[in-house]
This record gives sequence, C-alpha cells and structure tokens, in this order.
Amino acid sequence: MGRLKVGVLISGRGSNMAALAEACAAPDFPAEIALVLSDIPDAGGLAVASERGLATAVVDRKAYGSKAGFEAAMDAALRNAGVELICLAGFMRVLSADFVGRWQDRILNIHPSLLPAFPGLDTHARALAAGVKLAGCTVHIVRPVVDDGPILVQAAVPVLDDDDAASLAARILAEEHRCYPLALRWMAEGRVRIDGGRVRIDGVPAAAGALRNPL
Ligand code: GRF
Repeated sequence: MGRLKVGVLISGRGSNMAALAEACAAPDFPAEIALVLSDIPDAGGLAVASERGLATAVVDRKAYGSKAGFEAAMDAALRNAGVELICLAGFMRVLSADFVGRWQDRILNIHPSLLPAFPGLDTHARALAAGVKLAGCTVHIVRPVVDDGPILVQAAVPVLDDDDAASLAARILAEEHRCYPLALRWMAEGRVRIDGGRVRIDGVPAAAGALRNPL
C-alpha cells in the first residue's frame, strides 16, 4: 500500500513540520510529506523544508481579496500535490467551516495545551497564570471551532515553580515533537476511529495509572 500523502501548513519556524519530516524519513513510516505550504512568504520553516528536499509552496493571504479566494488557492495547491491529509503545524490562520468541511476528518492540528484548557493564543502564559500543575500538548482532528475537535494524542509535562512562558513552552515543545509523528502514524495506519467526540485507536493498548505533580 502507498504511503499517505501529507500537506503540512505552517506560518513560522516549522519545528513540528521538521519533526514530522524526520519521522517520514524512516523507510517504514506510513506517511510522506507531499507539500509544505505557508501563508507567510518568509516563514522560517520554508527554508527548513527546502533543505530537507521537500516541496514547498506559498499562498500569501495578502495576495487574495477574500478568505474564500485564499482558501481556494490553498485547496488547489494541496490537491495538485496529491495531498490526502493536512497537518496544521503552527499555521496561524483560522480555517473556514467550508474548508474544514471539504477536508472532513482529514485535518490535524497541534496545540500547546491540554485541550480543552487554554485554546487560542498566549497559551503558556495563561496556563501559568491559572496555576496549573500539569501542562502539555494535544493533537486533535480539526473542527470549525478553533482548537476544538476529537483528541488523538496528549502529553503532559510538569509546571515547575520557576517556570516562565518560555521555559514551559520549551518543555511542551519537546513533547509536541513526539506526539505529532505518533498521531500521524496512527492516522496513516488507519487505526483512528472517530466515535462522537472521542477518538479510538485500534490496536494500541490503553495506558493506565496516574500522573501526579508534585509527586
Ligand atoms: C507550536 O507550539 C504549536 O503547538 C502551535 O504553534 C507552535 C508552532 O511551532 N500551534 P513550530 O512552528 O512548529 O516550531
């Protein structure tokens, strides 16, 4: 069977895109990156993708008079590249319900919080201000509401007493780079079943036990 063709949408440095690319570089990985697409012409991740020999494209939001036109151009670029699944990886545009519907259950996103806590921007600072003891990241199926949708993978990290937003973000980012390839692998292997608001992963044993911070 062929490998699942993935389009990665970025707006920035692209470290999650690079983690996905690293995973896809393994010969037995069930997915490949067919296109890295950015809405920002000078996004740092574009150079990272090119260095890896990945195909890149820019669909500059500023070049389009409407969101519908912008999304139609992205849609065309993705379909021309044969993309079957989209991974949002630091993509800073909100996709319309129309676009999400056209790629129903075929768009993943990664967010640096334990959703549904702290959706949206300034995630790490808000988690610190709320005083949570565990933070983390979430890979989920995209629905029209931002940072909403059935959850595929989460990882938790401790919040330390001397954390600031940067140190917490760095601890979470390391987990993001593990979670996103795992979620992509399960999607590409066809193990993911969406059951209402929940995701079931076929053939993966459930983890048990508690995680406490502080111990
Ligand atoms: C990550 O923290 C991701 O969870 C969020 O935006 C950031 C993107 O970082 N959606 P990078 O561009 O993947 O390095």
